[in-house]
Amino acid sequence: MAILAIESSCDETSVAVINNSKVLSNIICSQHFHKKYGGIVPELASRAHLQTISLLTKQALEAANIKINQVKAIAATTEPGLVGALIVGSTFAKGLAMRYSLPIIPVNHIDGHIFSGFLMEETPENPKPDFPIIALVVSGGNTAIFYVESYNSYRIIGTTRDDAAGEAFDKIAKLCGLEYPGGPLIDKFAKIGDKNKYNFPRSMINSNDYDFSFSGLKTSVRYFLQKEFPNGIPQEEIPNISASVQSAIVDVLVSKTVKSALQFGVKTIVIAGGVSANSGLRTEMELQAKKHNIRSIAPAMSYCIDNAAMIGYIAEKKFVYNSSSTNFNRFDFTVSANALRAKK
Ligand code: KG4
Repeated sequence: MAILAIESSCDETSVAVINNSKVLSNIICSQHFHKKYGGIVPELASRAHLQTISLLTKQALEAANIKINQVKAIAATTEPGLVGALIVGSTFAKGLAMRYSLPIIPVNHIDGHIFSGFLMEETPENPKPDFPIIALVVSGGNTAIFYVESYNSYRIIGTTRDDAAGEAFDKIAKLCGLEYPGGPLIDKFAKIGDKNKYNFPRSMINSNDYDFSFSGLKTSVRYFLQKEFPNGIPQEEIPNISASVQSAIVDVLVSKTVKSALQFGVKTIVIAGGVSANSGLRTEMELQAKKHNIRSIAPAMSYCIDNAAMIGYIAEKKFVYNSSSTNFNRFDFTVSANALRAKK
């Protein structure tokens, strides 16, 4: 069955068509203009979604080579995210579903990320992940570890107590005078820097749980920069600072994720969310997981950033598995800014 999925929770408008777990199209429009404000301006994000969503829907259907009357259900992200932005996507989805008398599937954005590792081209050397998996969802708004038994059964086992890892990347990049979003720039500079030059704290790395804390790192880097470079950071030090900061963040993410996989007896780790694009994280997770005979899967870049393919993928599973217990013809759902559910 073809599902048309819409994602608009933050600063990417995306529309995808999924059929039997296959991505037929996944059109993403990133709102780069937020750069000049040093962060995302929620109202401008909503307006930009409104401007692009109709055209992207047309493009997604064309790229998938199907007509709207061949679509069997509409899915939309309804939480968590920027409320105005979510309202644009989910209201557009409701309109389409009403017009064509289709079921509508509300989707939690984090659920989309959890299963984005399944959106790969399956080959004999690279089979789809087997349940159970450990999923590390790491982005600008979330950092959490999930134990996932099936499409219908998963729970959060660790989360950040303060900043998300992406937020730490972005805020530290700003301290270094790099533009927003700073994560990809830290990644770029880290490649030519010495990660052992500066020693930044790895908060909670040895704690007995799977929680994270990144706000201490940000404060520590701020004090370090003020003390070490009172007259401004020399340009040649940016790569070394970037590499040292990235290493501190990656060490904690990898250590906690691998530890959870070992404790839960899980053989597959999936990393997802914007920060999973980080080259240091991808390499180190694979390396450390391999030492314990654990497979580490990182989605293709277009499935790391916010995208509608991941929303359609899990929407289809929900629809197939829950049709008898869930009414997908209810149009009275709303949206929510709320981040992660409580830890179980
Ligand atoms: O999932 P996402 O697109 O949306 C939000 O949650 O906002 O993630 C965006 C986050 C930003 O914090 C960005 O700096 C970070 O992902 N990010 C990266 C990299 N690419 C994106 N952080 C580190 N290294 C990267 N290569």
